[in-house]
Amino acid sequence: MVYWVFGYGSLIFKPPPHAIEQKSGYVKGVVRRFAQSSIDHRGTLEAPGRVVTVIEAREWHKLEGITIPKGQILPEDYVWGMAYRIDPHYEEEVKAYMEHREKNGYTCHFVPVYSTSTDGKEESVIVASAEIWIGKLDNPAFIGYEPEKELAQTIAERKGPSGPNKEYLYKLADSVRHLYPHVRDDYLFKLEATVRALESRN
Ligand code: BEZ
Repeated sequence: MVYWVFGYGSLIFKPPPHAIEQKSGYVKGVVRRFAQSSIDHRGTLEAPGRVVTVIEAREWHKLEGITIPKGQILPEDYVWGMAYRIDPHYEEEVKAYMEHREKNGYTCHFVPVYSTSTDGKEESVIVASAEIWIGKLDNPAFIGYEPEKELAQTIAERKGPSGPNKEYLYKLADSVRHLYPHVRDDYLFKLEATVRALESRN
């Protein structure tokens, strides 16, 4: 089996090692949220940061108090990211790298990755099965919904061994803006603007 990894967070701006091909695409019926606590990358045990996870859209909307009928998704319930094909010679090495990198509550799952034709009218599966690392709702590092101001304040202040939490947010927002200019991601860009505004006040 060919080994593909789908990145929706830092993997977008820091690809896994030994990637020999990459394809932009999206996963359906999910949202990307800063809802996972980070004690080992963008925060510490005493002052955890916030990093992204993807969550089934209906589950997330329920946490926000919105009920979506089963089988339906909202137009924004897509997460764009990058699918990477890993050199088969390094498959075991990259699997070990991913396991180590994502030890804080994330678990490994498999998803189809989609894309659309240039005119946006036709959708097709571009990778039948890609590995994705998700912090599910029942993992101990899952924070859940937080009011935007509170979340922005946390991201603006915290830092960890991989650097300031806000740098992670800015890199992600920049990458999404440049790689997927057609994608509307109000959540991400609003959060970025709020954190930048807090930064400019300090
Ligand atoms: C990613 O960067 O796509 C990623 C996010 C969370 C866990 C593993 C990978």
